[in-house]
Amino acid sequence: MTPEDKKRNAAEAAVDYVKPDSVIGVGTGSTVNHFIDLLAERMADRITAAVSSSEASSDRLRGHGIKVVDLNEIGNLDLYVDGADESNHQLQLIKGGGGALTREKIVAAASREFVCIADDSKLVTTLGDFPLPLEVIPMARELVAAELRKLGGEPRLREDFVTDNGNQILDVHGLQIRNALDMETRINQLAGVVCVGLFAHRPANVLILGTDDGVRACHPATGVS
Ligand code: A5P
Repeated sequence: MTPEDKKRNAAEAAVDYVKPDSVIGVGTGSTVNHFIDLLAERMADRITAAVSSSEASSDRLRGHGIKVVDLNEIGNLDLYVDGADESNHQLQLIKGGGGALTREKIVAAASREFVCIADDSKLVTTLGDFPLPLEVIPMARELVAAELRKLGGEPRLREDFVTDNGNQILDVHGLQIRNALDMETRINQLAGVVCVGLFAHRPANVLILGTDDGVRACHPATGVS
């Protein structure tokens, strides 16, 4: 089975979490693109609206006729569906490969349940092989980079990329993140960091993995169910 097939299968399983006539949170990325397409196919006219984490996902949702609303109009959400670049077994995540980490973290924080969808290559023992994305205020880029070097990372500017919020991304290579809670807290405290793509204080509630043997749902307490 190809990675794309696995992503699509995980996305399909996530559609079952969507309650009719609800407003849902929608993330960003190739796996979520499958989710949006399947949502439109399976639940047309049964979705009230979506809160989106990126302009790209908003465009795709609207293209299917799904209304996109501002989070401020909604307050809280029951469900957020998004992908990840890596997950450990506690369902702490690295996100932001697509650069939408800040809005993703906001929508995740506003949601009661975060369903993460991915192919099985994303499940790792230790986070950090995937470079950790940081959204930074452009004038603070070098200041933040110097602090990340002190933490053992090798930050690289994502070339020719501007976030939906008008900022830049540093991708930090070479980190082995054994204490994700502590790392997220430390990076959050650096002046000039808008957001770090480490979702440890707000991990996923369930991780749906597409595998060669079908989909499996992982929970943080038990590992796999
Ligand atoms: C977007 O900024 C990311 O957080 C994505 O959720 C992540 O990169 C997963 O993307 P794919 O579904 O394309 O692997």
